[in-house]
Amino acid sequence: MWSSFFRKKSIDKIISDQLEIEKLEGGQMHRNLGVRDLTFMGVAAIIGASIFSAIGQASANGGPAVSMLFVFTAMACMFTAFCYARFAATVPISGSAYTYAYTSLGEIVAWILGWNLLLEYAISNVAVAISWSKYFVDLMEGLGVHVPEFLTMDYLSAKRAFNEASPLLQSGQTLESLHVNLREGYLAYQSAPTFLGWHFVANLPALLITVAITYLVYIGIKESKNTNNILVILKLLVIAIVIGVGAFYVQVENWTPFAPNGISGVLKSVAAVCFAYIGFDSISTTAEECKNPQRDIPKAMMWALIICTVLYVLVTLVLTGIVPSQQLTGIEDPLAFMFMKVNLPGVAGVVAASAVIALTSALLVYQLGQPRIWMTMSRDGLLPKAFSRIHPKYRTPSFSTIMTGVLVGVPALFANLEEVINLSSIGTLFAFVLVCAGVLILDLDPENQKKSKFKIPYLNASIWVGVAWIVALYLSLPDSASWTTWLGSYLDGDAKADHWIMTGFFVIWLVLAFFSYTHRLSLIPVLGLLVNLYLMTQMGATNWERFAYWCLAGVMIYFGYSYRKSKLN
Ligand code: ALA
Repeated sequence: MWSSFFRKKSIDKIISDQLEIEKLEGGQMHRNLGVRDLTFMGVAAIIGASIFSAIGQASANGGPAVSMLFVFTAMACMFTAFCYARFAATVPISGSAYTYAYTSLGEIVAWILGWNLLLEYAISNVAVAISWSKYFVDLMEGLGVHVPEFLTMDYLSAKRAFNEASPLLQSGQTLESLHVNLREGYLAYQSAPTFLGWHFVANLPALLITVAITYLVYIGIKESKNTNNILVILKLLVIAIVIGVGAFYVQVENWTPFAPNGISGVLKSVAAVCFAYIGFDSISTTAEECKNPQRDIPKAMMWALIICTVLYVLVTLVLTGIVPSQQLTGIEDPLAFMFMKVNLPGVAGVVAASAVIALTSALLVYQLGQPRIWMTMSRDGLLPKAFSRIHPKYRTPSFSTIMTGVLVGVPALFANLEEVINLSSIGTLFAFVLVCAGVLILDLDPENQKKSKFKIPYLNASIWVGVAWIVALYLSLPDSASWTTWLGSYLDGDAKADHWIMTGFFVIWLVLAFFSYTHRLSLIPVLGLLVNLYLMTQMGATNWERFAYWCLAGVMIYFGYSYRKSKLN
């Protein structure tokens, strides 16, 4: 019984199934994508809400040193990208990490991974849609069209702002003097139509853009690709303007201190920075629409990561070089804000308007990725058959695409940006951890290594994982005077859960050190696993709790439906 949860699909079976599907009338998708298209897709997915919105608060927390966090996180992604590339070159199927886990870690893990990819694609797209809406509303305001506040945000943010602003207003402060977020939230809640005491506040533009993008993705990969390529070129052009023009206004003294709130300030931005890289793997979901997936997917992933990391680092340095980081607190349009600071309202306007374009391309890629993963899960029987239905004319996964539209559009009406970003980041990192673990397990069999056309450069992890463990443990233990307090913090206090999470990390690291030595594991996937796991430990106990409930819900669906319906059953 136990072993049936971990049943695996062999690589040969996956490839022969795929050939069968392609032979079927109407089963094949159009192969249209080359390296450039795929790299552009990666750039479209990576550069989005984070560079136009989240980078502001992240820089306020960590200062210019956040640029280093981008580099550190990029390293985690690079290690992971090697693992994705290794799998994509072996199993060129649309299911991405889900399919990879099915071949290496077994069905229940593959299901949980697929369930977490939902956080990465659909739920992160809720965040991008919300961010898009914010810029769109600003753009409309700039053009003289006022969208009523109650149609521009989620209910909870409006209610919180109303509760916070009301006593301030009663104490004599004016509406204009309040922070812009408080003011807009207050107005939204106060002016909303009510129904049985319920204030109708919803983010309508976020729903509308989701519907529009879903339609585009529904009608064909070629249309999506062409639209995406144009949007990405425009996006890169705008980022180039931000860096090129901004560089002239940098005041290097703003970079000192480099980390005004210390390392803990920098680590506060982990969720936002990880969110930035979410999506580099979405390239692999289009494997069945690539001209040469084994060669092109690995190349495109690396290119997209390198290009985006350079851009993120430069934008962070320019931003914090122009605006002292503490002034970025609560700023949701930091790039436009920084040009206003240096009296360039024209450039600020162009940047704000272009954010709408940039975010549209990010939306497109995620709306494209999610249905293709569901399609693969449905072919394996883990989801109902309708999810793998291909549209007879457009050759896209039609039902899955519509379901993605519903799943993104409806929550986008009501969800809170920060909470969606946090949940999405932790779920995605977990998926990355499993992909790295998958490579380690797959490569234990030398036969599997021979089947791949892409080899991860091999460095023997040997004793080095263990040596690093000893050094890290030594650095994180308290000095002799604080042992009692330190041990007590496992039982009591605000940081109790964080201590247990960190201890769990050290235990996993130790186990990995043991296997690295005994099985001569490859260093790159081991590092990928550890760095992603470490980033997860920095997400805070509340996010871990939500994430645990999310996984529990996934496991319940697995046992309630997928386990019985699986084709391997
Ligand atoms: N990486 C995407 C963004 O930054 C999700 O918006």
